[in-house]
Amino acid sequence: MNKNIHDLVIIGAGVIGHSIAFRVKRMRPELQVAVVGDPMNSLMASRAAAGMLAPFGECDRADGFFRFCRESLDKYPAFIDELVQVSGVPVFLSMAGSLMPSLFYKDSWEERKRFFRDQGVPHEIWPPARVRERAPHLSEKCGEVMWVGEGQVNNRQMHDALAIASARLGVTRLEANVSGFIKDAGALAAAVTDRGDVRGRRFVLASGSWAAALGEILGVSLPMKPIKGQMCRVQVEDDRLEYTVHGKLTYIAPWRGGHGFVIGSTMEDRGFDPGVESDVIDRLVEKAAEVLPCLAAAPLIEAWTGLRPAARDLRPVMGKSERYGNLYYSTGHYRNGILQTPNQADYMAGLLLGERNEIAEFSPSRYHL
Ligand code: GLY
Repeated sequence: MNKNIHDLVIIGAGVIGHSIAFRVKRMRPELQVAVVGDPMNSLMASRAAAGMLAPFGECDRADGFFRFCRESLDKYPAFIDELVQVSGVPVFLSMAGSLMPSLFYKDSWEERKRFFRDQGVPHEIWPPARVRERAPHLSEKCGEVMWVGEGQVNNRQMHDALAIASARLGVTRLEANVSGFIKDAGALAAAVTDRGDVRGRRFVLASGSWAAALGEILGVSLPMKPIKGQMCRVQVEDDRLEYTVHGKLTYIAPWRGGHGFVIGSTMEDRGFDPGVESDVIDRLVEKAAEVLPCLAAAPLIEAWTGLRPAARDLRPVMGKSERYGNLYYSTGHYRNGILQTPNQADYMAGLLLGERNEIAEFSPSRYHL
């Protein structure tokens, strides 16, 4: 690694880092690209997500962020096709949609309907009789249910596919921790790692919640912190539910293919605490079982903690550094990193290759980075 000067060094080996490498190599195969990162971090970020592709369930304002997420959802089928073709790794993607039971949206039900109507969001209101037909295992307590045209992906398969596709395209992968940088006249010359220095012409910081510590080393104050989410996966037959279910802080994400259902999630401001509490997991399952009663007795496959990278304004930090001439950021994707992956990859690759301008709302310059 020491001698090579890479055209691009991406720090962060999750879906964000790998997807930038993937897109850059697809656009400019001759460039030398390296992805550097500790695989353990991905276990608590890219691989910890539930894989919901839910701009409509998660956003309630038609702002630039909503538009960005929506565009990313639209890109998903073609993105996964391309990824599967290059990697040869199957990735489960469903565009069957998601369900929002009125049970969970009592105070905002009419507001949600209005928002979806005004924004031309594909949706249907299912009265209880229709719910019985389309999702017969849902509890009667759900009442009226809104079907929304969203998606669901198996994010672990997608992460595997991105890593393999990037490798097939010639991206160098270094499993190492970045602990510092070598600087040269207002720019970065190398990332210092426990496996040697990685030299580059340009660098991208795409290390989620861990980006703040690297920012500190760079002398910039990146207002980013992890928001912990405890979640679990239970064994349930695929035919119990085709759709992803949203219930504000409760969701059920079918991974299908015999992989069971993911149930999430808490929102906890507790630093990098990786702990999983069994009583918290029990409560999540209980709450989810109010919607899908078969979950109550479903065998637990695993429980884990994810760390969402949250910027102060809860918006992504994507674009060029003000402080270093050859540094870029792509982090702060918070609750929607998996959803934003395809659009973020296009956007970052376009920016790095001089084919796109920054979106001011997401620019690192709002924090003087
Ligand atoms: N997008 C769901 C979550 O962050 O829990």
